[in-house]
Amino acid sequence: MELGDLRADYEHAGLKETEMLGDPVDQFKEWLQQAIDHPLGDWFEPTAMTLATATPDGMPSARIVLLKDIDAKGRMVFFTSYSSQKGDNLAANPRAALCFYWGQFGRQVRIEGTIEKTSRAISEAYFSSRPRASQLGAVASDQSRVIASRDLLEQSLADAELKYAGGAVPLPEDWGGYALTPAKFEFWQGRRNRLHDRIVYRRSGEAWAIERLGP
Ligand SMILES: Cc1cc2nc3c(=O)[nH]c(=O)nc-3n(C[C@H](O)[C@H](O)[C@H](O)COP(=O)(O)O)c2cc1C
Repeated sequence: MELGDLRADYEHAGLKETEMLGDPVDQFKEWLQQAIDHPLGDWFEPTAMTLATATPDGMPSARIVLLKDIDAKGRMVFFTSYSSQKGDNLAANPRAALCFYWGQFGRQVRIEGTIEKTSRAISEAYFSSRPRASQLGAVASDQSRVIASRDLLEQSLADAELKYAGGAVPLPEDWGGYALTPAKFEFWQGRRNRLHDRIVYRRSGEAWAIERLGP
């Protein structure tokens, strides 16, 4: 494979500081909506984002999770197991980064900030909206812990099905939401000749300062 020879050319319209919305959350919502509205929106999983966390001594790790809400405070919300690797990282070091890639538009958005757990009520509301099979899956799986075999996982699911047969599946103690409060956004638009546009918003008190970065 000659990966070095693979090259995409970006012929997209550019970003102008003066045309970017004053609030990066609004700008983000606009780009996300465009990604959702794309004819291949489902296929591209527009809400899929890379979540980067790190241990307190700086060992990073990254994985994809799904954005499930942008709340009234402009926080980016996702759901997971609190006892997973990311959960362990965030308990010890609540700083994290998100990265979205919408290749159909040659766009990337990077977000950095601090993370806290959502309220139990928010986790309950989301958990109860999930399909029953997903609820049972969350109950049955000890996310990110070593398991001896696939069979044991299937058995654990069968046990959960039996235990909650006919009744509601309760939200597991160690499962719920996290909300990231952004301190920085970067909007990246691929352009011709590698002269890409990069517009950064940094929180400065209640306002946002906007700057352009070299590509
Ligand atoms: C498209 C996609 C969406 C995913 N969405 C989630 C999610 O919303 N929540 C979650 O806990 N894991 C999600 N995962 C699985 C995670 O990438 C990861 O395997 C899991 O959360 C364990 O990560 P950790 O061991 O770093 O904590 C998703 C994976 C993919 C590929």
